[in-house]
Amino acid sequence: MRLTQEQERKVESILARMTLEEKIGQTNLESPSIVGGFDVPFEELIEMLTDGRLSNEEFGKIMATSSRDYHEDDIRAGRVGAMMGDDPVKANELQKIAVEESRLGIPLLMGFDVIHGLRTVYPIAIAEAGSFDDDLFERTASMAAKESRAHGINWNFAPMLDVARDSRWGRVSEGPGEDPRLGARFARAKIRGLQGDTASDRNYVAACMKHYVAYGACESGRDYNTTMMSTSMLHNVYLEAFRAAVEEGAASAMASFNDLNGVPCSVNPYTLRTVLKDGYGMNGFVVSDANGIKECVAHGIAADEEDAGIQAMNAGLDMDMGPHIFKNYLKKAVEEGRVPMEILDDAVRRILRVKVWLGLFENPYVPEESIRTYADSNVPEEHSTLALEAAEKSLVLLKNEDNLLPLDREQKISLVGKLADSRTEIIGAWAMSWQERDCVSIREGLEKAGANVRYFACGGPEGELDSEEIRQAAEWGDVIVAVLGETDAMSGEASSRADITLPGKQRKLLKKLLKTGKKVVLVLMNGRPLALGWEDQHVPAILEGWHLGIRMGDAVAAALLGDLNPEGKVASSFPAENGIEPLYYNHPNTGRPGSRSKFTSRYLDAPFEALYPFGFGLSYTAFSYSGLKVKEEEGGGAFEITLRLANTGAREGTETVQLYLQDKAASLVRPVKELKDYMKVTLKAGEEKTVRFRLSKKDMGFYDNSGKYLLEDGLFKIFAGGSSRDCLEEEIMVKF
Ligand code: GLC
Repeated sequence: MRLTQEQERKVESILARMTLEEKIGQTNLESPSIVGGFDVPFEELIEMLTDGRLSNEEFGKIMATSSRDYHEDDIRAGRVGAMMGDDPVKANELQKIAVEESRLGIPLLMGFDVIHGLRTVYPIAIAEAGSFDDDLFERTASMAAKESRAHGINWNFAPMLDVARDSRWGRVSEGPGEDPRLGARFARAKIRGLQGDTASDRNYVAACMKHYVAYGACESGRDYNTTMMSTSMLHNVYLEAFRAAVEEGAASAMASFNDLNGVPCSVNPYTLRTVLKDGYGMNGFVVSDANGIKECVAHGIAADEEDAGIQAMNAGLDMDMGPHIFKNYLKKAVEEGRVPMEILDDAVRRILRVKVWLGLFENPYVPEESIRTYADSNVPEEHSTLALEAAEKSLVLLKNEDNLLPLDREQKISLVGKLADSRTEIIGAWAMSWQERDCVSIREGLEKAGANVRYFACGGPEGELDSEEIRQAAEWGDVIVAVLGETDAMSGEASSRADITLPGKQRKLLKKLLKTGKKVVLVLMNGRPLALGWEDQHVPAILEGWHLGIRMGDAVAAALLGDLNPEGKVASSFPAENGIEPLYYNHPNTGRPGSRSKFTSRYLDAPFEALYPFGFGLSYTAFSYSGLKVKEEEGGGAFEITLRLANTGAREGTETVQLYLQDKAASLVRPVKELKDYMKVTLKAGEEKTVRFRLSKKDMGFYDNSGKYLLEDGLFKIFAGGSSRDCLEEEIMVKF
């Protein structure tokens, strides 16, 4: 986030006029509180709903009699720095109070979660990352920013940049997968798309990179669980995407819930100050995630909420999203010198920087015409078209025996599975403001495309199974397309699963379908890699559909009928069975790399390699790789890597060519492969071309356990191919 000298002076002049109460007010992020209709705290009500003490209809009745407290008096008194919400009319009302009725007229940040689209929902991040298309990452983010501003949101709690290697974790769905480099490229593009280059333009927002940091390393894939790792691992794997986001100008960050090496990230001076603010030079602010500060008491690092609040502010956490800990305790803490005034000033300065940089002092309100654009209308045509493009590029062809796909248009298709007929399950986790009327189910997509299709529910992800419908489906159709997977509630926050096979009786449903003798195509709708060993053994064609957003139905139909040649890859490795997580391609070799022989790093009862490894994805055509060459550039600063790529199939296709590196002998054990670069190449049938990468020597190092970046002479291996497993390779000696 770059400010001009004049903007910095503006920040300082406002800060100089603020009272202690007003400074603390800026560190307070408020949410509209739900009041009335019940005599217990709202959190307790949610607990009662979650544990069944309250039914949905009782909860609905209570909600109907409740109202919202928007804390207008606190805003008027300068005790609120930011609000949560996505209602443009309410946003303007509250902003008017802040700007025209508070003493200093400091405008509010209006924050909301827009992770993969607001009204126009596009694929969940784990899917979109698999498109390996940086330009697409940026354009979808830019669209989300535009819709956010029109809805009164000027601060977006995105991008989520948590590298994750354990698919039991539900939030794998929200992030860019298992690889740090793909995560970093995703981060750069999302920050550019969200923040643009002139943030005061109405169509951009302040980004909030999250969850800082290493939240995806939660032990056993259980959400909110502890994380423990070396400093080297933290810098080489979990920090790369955040470092890239800061270089791109990320305006804010959200501290993560997890304790990292014994210190919760809400009160961690190493990650917040040493690394992020001093090391990376981030000039924006850090906000807590929900009750992250309060939870430090449960973590056992703070005696009480006051202690937690003081530790957080002193560690470099600048704004409290949770239950008013800064609001309740900071005044006394500053007056008693337990929080130095200059630390509070630094926090407020960072918050004011974002408001000045966004241009909120000049343009605090949502223009009426923006509000009208989305009120009760469908999403703009170009947004819907972009959502379709993103869905099409994120689809992954995992298996296609005997080229069963694409289907012949004349074939009668028995479409099976409750998910096939759903307009809502295609959306995925963390999307709140979409309209069902904008969505296209897979059933509707096939019908719109003119397929000869009939729908039979037959079963679903929550245990449904109907043998009669299975019989009818098998009787009617020439081919069966089974849409199976997870509901969107089975992934996302607080949705870890120990069993990551197809939920319910969906494998049993598949067995029954296969037993009828008809060919079966499996279309997956899921928020995480699933354990698909049995399916891969028995089902001839498998299409990974993820949760692709509002246009999922059109994209899947286009792929099934051959109007689209799938080009996506998996951004996270798929296991064959449960029990093999965490699973990732960029692992150390160990002294006994897994093999068929017993005394190696393997399992007695399961395969140890990924079923579908990072970067894997098939096409309706075929690509061949040859002639890998590595040449040191004049001056010795980089290597030029070239190879020949040929489309040896019968139709045009797009391949993601991936470049990997291995440091064969270093002062720390290094991964067997690390993604360094990738590019997408479209070739007509029979066409071939030379693909060229440039690998700077500066990019061939790693961080050691003191957080220092090392470049060490020695033997390296260069790999290039269509996945992390299928590569050409060359060895080179490198001198830095
Ligand atoms: C949640 C999530 C975070 C989200 C925040 C605000 O607990 O962890 O990703 O931005 O609350 O909704």
